[in-house]
Amino acid sequence: MEPTQQKQTGWKPGKRDAIFLAIVAAVVLVLVLGTGERTTKPTPKDETHLSATSRAECLNCHSSTGVKPQPLGHTAADQCFQCHLQPEGWRGGK
Ligand code: HEC
Ligand code: HEC
Repeated sequence: MEPTQQKQTGWKPGKRDAIFLAIVAAVVLVLVLGTGERTTKPTPKDETHLSATSRAECLNCHSSTGVKPQPLGHTAADQCFQCHLQPEGWRGGK
């Protein structure tokens, strides 16, 4: 009677628990590593991009008819630098 009761109340990590913990650890690891890298490309730091100071200028080249169109399904959001890191030394005021 007594040994059985002890088995029921006490918790011993078994094989299934180990597998579960391993999966949790793997998911956490993937999430942590994933946040470390910035996936959106930064705005290039060249003369063209340092001197383009308005969205209209950006879209001269990056609209669907420009030399380097935004990908299909790209957001229509105005604030390019919110996602594409503003290059150091950018000459725009805002
Ligand atoms: C005169 C044309 C022109 C203008 C204006 C221009 N770009 Fe570009 N842009 C390009 C070209 C060409 C490329 C691809 C070659 C390169 O990486 O320089 C590019 C590349 C990019 C890329 C992708 C970089 C990569 O790694 O692939 C981003 C983001 C970008 N531009 C953002 C902007 C933003 C934001 C503006 C406005 C501030 C802007 N561009 C204005 C021509 C332009
Ligand atoms: C809400 C976030 C966001 C905003 C705002 C945004 N973009 Fe993007 N853009 C992305 C993502 C995400 C991608 C695709 C992933 C990548 O950059 O590789 C992309 C891709 C691009 C590319 C193609 C890069 C390449 O080499 O394939 C260009 C060019 C670009 N964006 C230009 C612009 C311009 C110009 C503006 C402002 C008018 C702008 N983006 C605003 C998120 C954004």
